[in-house]
Amino acid sequence: MTSPGGLSVPFGTVTITERARSLIQDALARGQVSGGRLVAEFEARFAALHGVREAVAVSSGTDADTLALAVLHDFGARRGDEVIVPALSFVATGSAVLHAGFTPVFVDVDLRTLNIDAGAIEAAVTERTRAIMPVHLMGKPADMDAVLAVARRHKLAVIEDAAEAHGALWRGRRVGTIGDMGAFSTYVAHIITTIEGGVVITDREEYAEVLRSLRAHGRSCTCKRCVMSTGGGYCERRFGRPGVEDTRFVFDRIGYSSKMNELEAAVGLGHLDLYETILAKRYRNLKYALERFGALGPHLYTIGEEPHERLGPHALPVIIGKDASLRRRDLIEFLQRRRIDSRTLFASMPTQCPGFAFLGYRPGQFPNAEYLGTHGLHVGVHQDLELEHMEYVLDSLRGFLERAQR
Ligand SMILES: Cc1ncc(COP(=O)(O)O)c(C=O)c1O
Repeated sequence: MTSPGGLSVPFGTVTITERARSLIQDALARGQVSGGRLVAEFEARFAALHGVREAVAVSSGTDADTLALAVLHDFGARRGDEVIVPALSFVATGSAVLHAGFTPVFVDVDLRTLNIDAGAIEAAVTERTRAIMPVHLMGKPADMDAVLAVARRHKLAVIEDAAEAHGALWRGRRVGTIGDMGAFSTYVAHIITTIEGGVVITDREEYAEVLRSLRAHGRSCTCKRCVMSTGGGYCERRFGRPGVEDTRFVFDRIGYSSKMNELEAAVGLGHLDLYETILAKRYRNLKYALERFGALGPHLYTIGEEPHERLGPHALPVIIGKDASLRRRDLIEFLQRRRIDSRTLFASMPTQCPGFAFLGYRPGQFPNAEYLGTHGLHVGVHQDLELEHMEYVLDSLRGFLERAQR
């Protein structure tokens, strides 16, 4: 096996371009750091990249999920209504449903795709279901045929949690644009980053207006470009509503404090300049590992890419096969000794995350999510890694298996 020598494989990286640095300096010099023209430009470019009418930047991917769901209250949903989500995801998916005032209803996932078990969605629909929120976990598109079919039959909204799926395609369409809204995270380890942040995209203007209100405490302002914060000065609409003293201080709905700031948007704009390059390099790294992963089976397995999809190169999942008597903890430690950073493959939210215990689910109800929650991990494929790093990861996994078989 390659000597651990000089190589290390950190999980994530952040690229802060020269342009981002100079935009940050400008914003500081102008004294305009809360959401303004840079956030507006970031939104316009994010929307154009995805070919949608609207993008609304918020302060995290969790808030992107939460606010997208909270929009539904303006369109007939009631507090306590249900939202169907996969049992396995980063915990934010489930928390967001609760933050938005809904009840999460969990559906088990598929062991191979890691995504919501398409055949089990319909059985989870009740009279109180308002939405399905599939997650494109690890950049692998969820089965949107099945999700859309159930949603159409039962008149449910579809909000895609695309936090980890920048650049993923499903039947040629960008994920996040297939449902009613798509929620992205721009957290530091993600493909487009603003360090902390998130974006909701949609083609429906009326949803975007509510999103802009929700991110600012539910205030009555819904303009796409706020003249006050983008240097335009006097706002005609502010004092122009009959019977209202100051529209900015009318709060139409229960909102959140979830705005993106100019410095974050500047980092994001720098990333958007490099988007194709970053995406291509991460995809190359991921494909290199996926194409060679079969040799590690059946003890270890990963996800595949089907002809109808293109994976968003978020990370490389590594899962211990059912017949292998290997412990994930040993594998994580083995990799860490070789300076390969890893993260677990999250957990079954309802049965492995103590915060959700109050919902009353019992261990054993989500066998696949629970299995992945104890036997899966993921490692980085980011743009600062070269193929030799990917080879080093594969070599280390081989080394782990050899040692375990001795
Ligand atoms: C699937 C999923 N949903 C939501 C989030 C929340 O994003 P953030 O960390 O930006 O709040 C994450 C975080 O990475 C995620 O992986």
